[in-house]
Amino acid sequence: MKHIKKQDNVLIFDTTLRDGEQSPGATMSHAEKLEIAELLDEMGVDIIEAGFPIASEGDFQAVSEISKRAKSSVICGLSRANFRDIDRCWEAVQHALKPRIHTFIGTSPLHRQIPNLSKDEMADVIHDTVTHARNLCDNVQWSPMDATRTELDYLYRVVEIAIKAGASTINIPDTVGYTAPRECANLIDALIKNVPGADAVTFATHCHNDLGMATANALAAVEAGARQIECTINGLGERAGNTALEEVVMALRVRNDIMPFQTSIDSTKLMNISRRVATVSGFQVQYNKAIVGKNAFAHESGIHQDGMLKNAETFEIMRPEDIGLAETNLVLGKHSGRAALRARLKDLGFDLGDNQLKDVFVRFKDLADRKKEIYDDDLLALMHNSSSDAEHDSLQMKSLKVVCGTDGPQTAELKMSIDGVESFIEASGDGPVDSVFKAVKTLFPHQAKLQLYQVHAVTEGTDAQATVTVRMEENGKIVVGQSSDTDTVVASAKAYVNALNKLLVRRQKKAPEVI
Ligand code: KIV
Ligand code: ZN
Repeated sequence: MKHIKKQDNVLIFDTTLRDGEQSPGATMSHAEKLEIAELLDEMGVDIIEAGFPIASEGDFQAVSEISKRAKSSVICGLSRANFRDIDRCWEAVQHALKPRIHTFIGTSPLHRQIPNLSKDEMADVIHDTVTHARNLCDNVQWSPMDATRTELDYLYRVVEIAIKAGASTINIPDTVGYTAPRECANLIDALIKNVPGADAVTFATHCHNDLGMATANALAAVEAGARQIECTINGLGERAGNTALEEVVMALRVRNDIMPFQTSIDSTKLMNISRRVATVSGFQVQYNKAIVGKNAFAHESGIHQDGMLKNAETFEIMRPEDIGLAETNLVLGKHSGRAALRARLKDLGFDLGDNQLKDVFVRFKDLADRKKEIYDDDLLALMHNSSSDAEHDSLQMKSLKVVCGTDGPQTAELKMSIDGVESFIEASGDGPVDSVFKAVKTLFPHQAKLQLYQVHAVTEGTDAQATVTVRMEENGKIVVGQSSDTDTVVASAKAYVNALNKLLVRRQKKAPEVI
């Protein structure tokens, strides 16, 4: 009889909407968060960390709504080690079919100094807060923040307290991306062997990428006994980011011969969700990013192309279709009908209902009138605009007319709606984009500073759409707005307005304190 290797399950815990969104500039709107949560749920993510409910009313609303909508994922909210945070978290996640409270406290010497607690005092806080969370919810996760820089004997002690108080998942965060694979594995191994009660709980790994080792560390932790990986789409996250979901999922799949673990992720949905997260967060994926970068499956050198034509396995360890990257020569244009558009969007991961398709088709026809050939990248930009033009945005651009050229003054005539009230302004500036930004600022005064203005052509040709990215900063809060149009100035205006809408969301968010 053929020997079948036992495959252990590894849970995938996605924190794109919490740790990912915490990354400066990655603020997402309410509608965008709901959309990403739905994609994560459909893709088979076991646990979605949907946000930090106490951080803002917006976070609270998003976690509540995601909890109500999720079909199969566990929905988790983050809370610091105090009753107010935990109560607020429970208020948001209680609507979920499978709710989880995640509570944390910094246990390393440096982090203990911030709330100025002794080891014994902190141990009591951990006991009381985990007990409180467990009285509300039967699924509690506890994290000793900066675990990898915490004294080992103290880590054993606090992990044991959290387990006794009722936590069923113990997450071991490498908060500052400091550990290395062998050390990370040894730590998980030591905890499992030395902490009483460790065999009854799930150990999780949560790695940051400051030294570029987040994925390697997470996989090493799994080999040592961790059975939950905390990660984000595209590795989005604070500073250098978190372990990338697509990397651990595909590594466990492609190298299953040496890492016999399985996840419940439908990998054919990876490419689509990666694109969606890139557009809504404004963090474009680097071209050579593993798995989902534009060049991850591109072969340019002659030797590689020749090998690929003879046998794809010569230079490919996985197939593009494994991650949902469909090969296509189909180009749409102004004569394409609804059925062709629906089919193409479905291939790109957008399964639209009749009403949504009707709306997108109008935009598609409008684009096709201005641009002869519509490529996949054009459709992705169109879909991004459809979600960021959400009708509940406070600020909306209604119309724009610009005068530019060699003989100034360059002027912009702008109509905008602000909280449902329409206003009109004419402004002049140093070029068309400056005029438009001045017009917006006059209608919606603000102190945010423009840090970056960038234009990219979506496809080739002079009729190509331009994607404009705008990064703004106000009192240390950074937001990124994006929009695409065949008219670069219109795209600029919409990107600026998109950034301001995100700023309105960001303004509500308090910086979470430590305890
Ligand atoms: O990196 C970290 O320590 C965290 C915790 C809140 C789990 O994100
Ligand atoms: Zn983190």
